Amino acid sequence: MKQTLIIRVNPENPSGVKIQTAAKIIQNGGLVAFPTETVYGLGANALNADAVLALFAAKKRPLDNPPIVHVASPVEVARLVQEVPKKAELLMEKFWPGPLTLVFKHSTIVPDVTTAGLDTVAIRMPKHQVALSLIRSSGCPIAAPSANLAGKPSPTTAQHVYEDLNGRVDAIIDGGATNIGVESTVVDVTVTPPIVLRPGGTTFEVLKRIVSDVKLHAFVEAEEELPLEKIQSPGMKHRHYAPKADVLLIEGPVSAVTNKIQELADSYRSKGNKVGVLATDETQAAYKADVLRSLGSRFNLPSIAQNLFRIIREVDSQNVDVILAEGIPSEGMGLAVMNRLRKASGYHIIKTQ
Ligand code: TXA
Ligand code: MG
Repeated sequence: MKQTLIIRVNPENPSGVKIQTAAKIIQNGGLVAFPTETVYGLGANALNADAVLALFAAKKRPLDNPPIVHVASPVEVARLVQEVPKKAELLMEKFWPGPLTLVFKHSTIVPDVTTAGLDTVAIRMPKHQVALSLIRSSGCPIAAPSANLAGKPSPTTAQHVYEDLNGRVDAIIDGGATNIGVESTVVDVTVTPPIVLRPGGTTFEVLKRIVSDVKLHAFVEAEEELPLEKIQSPGMKHRHYAPKADVLLIEGPVSAVTNKIQELADSYRSKGNKVGVLATDETQAAYKADVLRSLGSRFNLPSIAQNLFRIIREVDSQNVDVILAEGIPSEGMGLAVMNRLRKASGYHIIKTQ
């Protein structure tokens, strides 16, 4: 067990002294959790193989799933990659800093452990003053996967990080709740056309406005587990966002979904199971369950993304046996939400008409 230092900062204007304390830890090969605009990350010096190895160990993350490397300026990409394709330049110009990760062919300075032995590296520049000052003060790119134990929902508050990683990391910078709530969009720009490997905070619709030929990988909208030969990003094959409870995702027209969920809730409860329902503002009055939470309004999909991981954690902490979740439209931020809900359900999806 390590003694985990908690460092509270103002998210808009973090104290230089406090960031220096955290940066020293990174420079010495330690592990620091910090807020970004998407979710909290667990950071280590991306160019220090031992530090990155310790990062995998702290998260209990499989070594074949590489972290994202965070930079504080597009200029820092050059020494980490072999080339910056034209479309990547356009995307960086338009969306950095922000919730967009680009996959490049990596240069020789990036250690194998940081790339999990792949010939590519995933890089992003976050839009958060704490993350940016930490990278600048550390003077190195920071490898940072989401700061949860492998398989758990990503953390959107320092408290979530503490629940998963207290005693396993050197420090947690508490900069309040994150704004976007789901992780960055991952786009592979080493191929033509560029391909979205993970939907996230930058929507497919806005990406297409800048790079019109960008495509979605089949996994992004998958309704079942993909066969191994179709897997293009290591993250596609690992269990994710999994609460302790069984999760069932019910998709279809809203009224059919609410009817089906109540029918399932009644049936599970009659067998003595404790049932949680993930509803929306428009539907929540329709349900009777042991634990009932709204993810937000169907007319405000970004708010649903913002609440998603927090509410999954909250419902799961009530020790329910099963969680029944409503499907929402797969447009805008809804695509990332549905991708996370499908994975959380282990592709246990029920379609209603
Ligand atoms: O918003 C985010 O992206 C957050 C914050 C902390 O920046 N980070 C995050 O990292 O979600 P992580 O490690 O939990 O997810 C990284 C994803 C994984 O699905 C991983 O497989 C994929 O990016 N990835 C990393 N390197 C890759 C590569 N070279 N090629 C393809 N996919 C890669
Ligand atoms: Mg993660």
